[in-house]
Amino acid sequence: MSDLLIHSMSEFADLIMPALALAGARDIVEIGAEYGGMSSLLADHCRHHGGTLTSIDPAPKAAFARWLQDNPHVRHLAKPSLDAFADLAAADAWFVDGDHNWYTVYHELLQIEALGRRDGKPLLAFLHDIGWPCARRDQYCAPDLIPAEFRHPHSYDAGTRPGTPHLIEGRGFRGMGSFAIATIEGGPRNGVLTAIEDFLAHSLGGGRELGFAEIPAVFGLGVVFDLDAPWSAALAAQLLPFHQNRLLRTLEDNRLRNYLQVIELQDIAAAG
Ligand SMILES: C[S@@+](CC[C@H](N)C(=O)[O-])C[C@H]1O[C@@H](n2cnc3c(N)ncnc32)[C@H](O)[C@@H]1O
Repeated sequence: MSDLLIHSMSEFADLIMPALALAGARDIVEIGAEYGGMSSLLADHCRHHGGTLTSIDPAPKAAFARWLQDNPHVRHLAKPSLDAFADLAAADAWFVDGDHNWYTVYHELLQIEALGRRDGKPLLAFLHDIGWPCARRDQYCAPDLIPAEFRHPHSYDAGTRPGTPHLIEGRGFRGMGSFAIATIEGGPRNGVLTAIEDFLAHSLGGGRELGFAEIPAVFGLGVVFDLDAPWSAALAAQLLPFHQNRLLRTLEDNRLRNYLQVIELQDIAAAG
């Protein structure tokens, strides 16, 4: 992806790092490392607080592998998240930014909750890409890993534009071979925000109400947290000004429209 489009969770550092401090987070698990932009911030935090960072990514970029060599205290599990939970204990905080589809995110959250219950730790999860384009449309890094009954029809070549539910062949925001996107937006079991909402409803059905903050910038950050945690009121107060903030949403919509225009100009130039 072009440098024109910031997309790392590290862009939220000014929100995330104080949140980790007030929750007293020591041991952290990150799903999805890519270049390690967020990993390096989390590794510094863990080292400073006497904890450990575990980073799960089956195919990180070479820059992350190089960084790992200088940071042997970071544990890297080179497998898809849902295959990695058997190797994990509960963490104080979770970062969910791997494969952005309903099946993966919903089951990641179920596993995170189960480990927390088993090990007696409150839930604190930061989830990325809860806004457009993944909010209501699945994206698949590895479609074959998604059971057929949960996998929507998808395309590697067709793209999406904000406000346009159907894909456009060879145009719009698309994976260009690196990921596929569902051909239909919306409906049940489709998208990252839908996965979070279904998880919150599942938890409520089990008698557990969770807090949820939605920060509409840089593809959308979600924070899911235990309302019973000793730090929950302080965290809620910290996040409240950003939660569904209209100015942030307007800026994000504008940024995406501008970037879609860049893609359009690139496509026109490539077509000659
Ligand atoms: C958007 S990038 C992560 C960016 C990073 N969290 C940051 O904020 O800088 C997504 C990463 O998730 C990884 N990934 C894809 N499917 C995954 C899965 N099932 N489990 C863990 N990681 C996955 C990809 O290899 C890719 O490196």
